[in-house]
Amino acid sequence: MENIILIGFMGAGKTTIGRLLAQKLNTQQHDFDEILVRQIGMSIADYFDAYGSESFCKIETRVLQQSLQLTGIISTGGGIVLKKENRLYLQNRSNVVYLKADLDELVHRVVLDKRNVRPLATSKSPDEIREVYLPRLPLYEESAKFIVDTTKRLPEEIVLEILEKV
Ligand code: S3P
Repeated sequence: MENIILIGFMGAGKTTIGRLLAQKLNTQQHDFDEILVRQIGMSIADYFDAYGSESFCKIETRVLQQSLQLTGIISTGGGIVLKKENRLYLQNRSNVVYLKADLDELVHRVVLDKRNVRPLATSKSPDEIREVYLPRLPLYEESAKFIVDTTKRLPEEIVLEILEKV
């Protein structure tokens, strides 16, 4: 089976669902944010401060291309769909799953997640997060083969739906 690539906004569950999927399929999970932190040698927040989001997106594109060599489940970062080049790449893959959720729930999850400092969401107001979210919606939709709604659902249910679809 081709890699399963999870896309979606911050807080959509790409890391958590990816981990469960990998366990279920007895394969590896590759988490973009972790790979990026290893490659840039600092936290994502520090990188944004020092070099900005454009530069971050360039590295993310490189990681996406490297992910061709990987087997397993790939949990991307929420900004992966911003570059057209990345969207074209995703459209050519067969198992790209968009984890969708209501904005209110995404905001809630991001606020509760104290482990990840996200430059575009942590310490921002719900309105500011909405401004980041709305223009991205069509980009996630056009990049994915399958859409799975994660709003108010248990991770195990979501994993089962993904496995039925891919
Ligand atoms: C980002 C999402 C983050 C991380 C960075 C930028 C975004 O990943 O890559 O903070 O632009 O949506 P998660 O979606 O895993 O939080």
